Amino acid sequence: MDKYVIHGGHRLSGEVIISGAKNAALPIIAATVLADAPCRIENLPDVSDVGVMIHLLQQLGASVQFLDRHTIEVDPRTIDTDTVRDKSAQTIRGSYYFIGALLGRFGSAVVPLPGGCNFGVRPIDQHLKAFAALGGQCSMDEGLITVKAEQGLYGANIYMDVVTVGATMNTILTAVKARGLTVIENAAREPHVVDLANFLNTLGADIRGAGTDTIRIHGVQRLRGAAYAIIPDQIEAGTYMVAAAATGGDVTVKNVTPQHLDSITAKLEEMGAVIEEGDDTVRVVCNHALRRCNVRTMPHPGFPTDMQPQITALLSFAHGTSIINDGIWDRFKYVDELRRMGAQITVNRDMAVVEGVDNLKGAEVRALDLRAGAAMVIAGLAATGVTQVEDVQYIERGFERIVEKLVGLGADIYRSQSPDSAPLRKMG
Ligand code: EPZ
Repeated sequence: MDKYVIHGGHRLSGEVIISGAKNAALPIIAATVLADAPCRIENLPDVSDVGVMIHLLQQLGASVQFLDRHTIEVDPRTIDTDTVRDKSAQTIRGSYYFIGALLGRFGSAVVPLPGGCNFGVRPIDQHLKAFAALGGQCSMDEGLITVKAEQGLYGANIYMDVVTVGATMNTILTAVKARGLTVIENAAREPHVVDLANFLNTLGADIRGAGTDTIRIHGVQRLRGAAYAIIPDQIEAGTYMVAAAATGGDVTVKNVTPQHLDSITAKLEEMGAVIEEGDDTVRVVCNHALRRCNVRTMPHPGFPTDMQPQITALLSFAHGTSIINDGIWDRFKYVDELRRMGAQITVNRDMAVVEGVDNLKGAEVRALDLRAGAAMVIAGLAATGVTQVEDVQYIERGFERIVEKLVGLGADIYRSQSPDSAPLRKMG
């Protein structure tokens, strides 16, 4: 079992460069299926979920060449099947973007039910509703989702019953080459939704309104090839901002879009950190004790659920009592791990009450999922003594070279690899 060993109590300082956004990269990799010519994707994060998506694209028959560690050239013209067969599709959430992309290209798609972090039930009813509205007949059998649009795909009005990132992006992928106009109402406004739309528009799509709650897509017949760079990762940036505050540090987070970080900046300022925004940088300085605050996760531009475990870890040693509400996912299980380090947190359904303690103490803890794992790393950096975080493969699904980046900021952390652990899938 691979783990991170952290000697806590070192103040982080210096600069860290943020990688491309995982949750933009996954749909954009799938979207290359829709192009009629080669596409170059730049600023891809070198994380294992992206490695799985690229592997699935290759299994479909696409030719994928690595120009460097973060850049691929995809030739989708050789794709000759509408079926994702590889079992690794079940290990990540983003594999479901191949449904929209293959449906858009072939009028049919067969894809395994997706996996991803375990937050209890993760319904896909809004995806299926959108596929059906656009002309697809959906069925599920033996863990496979099959969608066929025998009469072709036609634009439609689709109202999302919940704000959902995945269903908004899958609808865009399906509609981009459908005949006529598709209107998505109550659409997700996350930066990665905008990035997918920008990528497809660069290929010649006609998508307007991404970033608002109404997206209008006029179907086009062809999509050309293009070069496109993925946006910086909002959650990775926010995680380093919280890590800086947790250690009383002074960290400049580089290669970011500061507006994407507004909700995180606002909460850190409320807690007493000082934030300076540059054009593509955010500096976090924190040289005194942190104050309590309340946090409620919301769809963008609200506070992201993917930052909830990290901010809860920070509030666990802030002065006073904080209340965290997360109605998006059932993702408070990691609180038991924080309690091992001395945190005083009680959870009631989708609410956590955090009584700030003076300091956390190092312990052996587990990364229960990607963002919960990041929270344990933050707790370990701030704690006294040694923290061992196990199951780090979850963290490496979405954080590129996290140990190296933290060491660059002065953290005392290393990765200890167990001799019998399976090698991580590497890009390139
Ligand atoms: C994406 O998941 C992200 N994953 C998640 O990040 C993130 O937590 C989530 O969006 C919310 O921002 C990827 O991009 C791969 P949703 P997704 O559809 O698309 C309900 C990470 O750590 N819902 O926006 O699966 C759902 O139950 C991961 O990187 C339905 O009811 O999330 C949830 O309460 C973890 N029916 C809410 O909507 C549906 O058909 C938001 O889900 C779909 C969703």
